[in-house]
Amino acid sequence: MPDTPKLLIQDVTCRFGSTLALARTSLQVRPGEFIAIVGPSGCGKSTLMNVVAGLQRPTEGRVLLDGTDVTGHTGHVGYMFQKDLLVPWRTVTGNIVLGAALTRRATRTDRAEARELAGRYGLGDFVDHFPHALSGGMRQRVALMRTLAFHRDILLLDEPFGALDSQTRFEMQQWLLQVWADSERTVLFITHDVDEAVFLADRVVVMSARPGRISASHQVDLPRPRTLDTVTSPEFTDLKRQVLSALYAARDESGQEVARA
Ligand SMILES: Nc1ncnc2c1ncn2[C@@H]1O[C@H](COP(=O)(O)OP(=O)(O)OP(=O)(O)O)[C@@H](O)[C@H]1O
Ligand SMILES: [Mg+2]
Repeated sequence: MPDTPKLLIQDVTCRFGSTLALARTSLQVRPGEFIAIVGPSGCGKSTLMNVVAGLQRPTEGRVLLDGTDVTGHTGHVGYMFQKDLLVPWRTVTGNIVLGAALTRRATRTDRAEARELAGRYGLGDFVDHFPHALSGGMRQRVALMRTLAFHRDILLLDEPFGALDSQTRFEMQQWLLQVWADSERTVLFITHDVDEAVFLADRVVVMSARPGRISASHQVDLPRPRTLDTVTSPEFTDLKRQVLSALYAARDESGQEVARA
């Protein structure tokens, strides 16, 4: 069924006690699409990810993956949490195979694949190092490789580069785009950084302030591969301005109806 969306978030709401964390939200994602989600702090971005991952059951609505209802079920997506959660007493290889180790025993094949991944993406000399001996960018890469090694064709990445300096961040963004191009995964990527969202994504989705919901969606038709020239092009600046104004409109009109861009 070529028309089946990879992911369908349908009329999802999420309430914690009397707090509405996520107002009614729907989103349809095509196979292989790279979606960036931006929105003010506390608007429910991580909550939405948790709902998609099945870690949080929504109060209303449902989540469909390849047409199958997976609401409240885990194990369908690769998920990199907002903080890099490397296990300090496991090496780089040990961390990459953690998904396998938690569900069954990590096999020799899993470890070989972890070493291959680490080598392919610039950490070949560090496979036996422990996290404390890695830089921030390296740790983020290991966390991302672990997400890849879970072998799900949809990846949820919650502010993976938030803690990095701008130069490392740019390198990591290019690295992620390479990984994405190599692996044909569908990506949902949360960020506070509008430049990052426009640089990476096929579509930037803007959420309004708490209780969050999707208030605007911008198609990004910038050519790929994206490079340093991308971020200095007039088309990039124009898109960035559109997303920023949608973001500020959503912030100002919190809880009210926001004009769709
Ligand atoms: N398990 C929980 N129990 C109670 N309230 C929660 C829970 N998880 C999230 N919330 C509340 O839901 C709202 C949305 O939180 P969420 O973490 O999804 O925001 P966010 O958009 O990811 O913010 P940030 O950009 O700061 O990461 C917040 O008000 C938060 O306090
Ligand atoms: Mg969050």
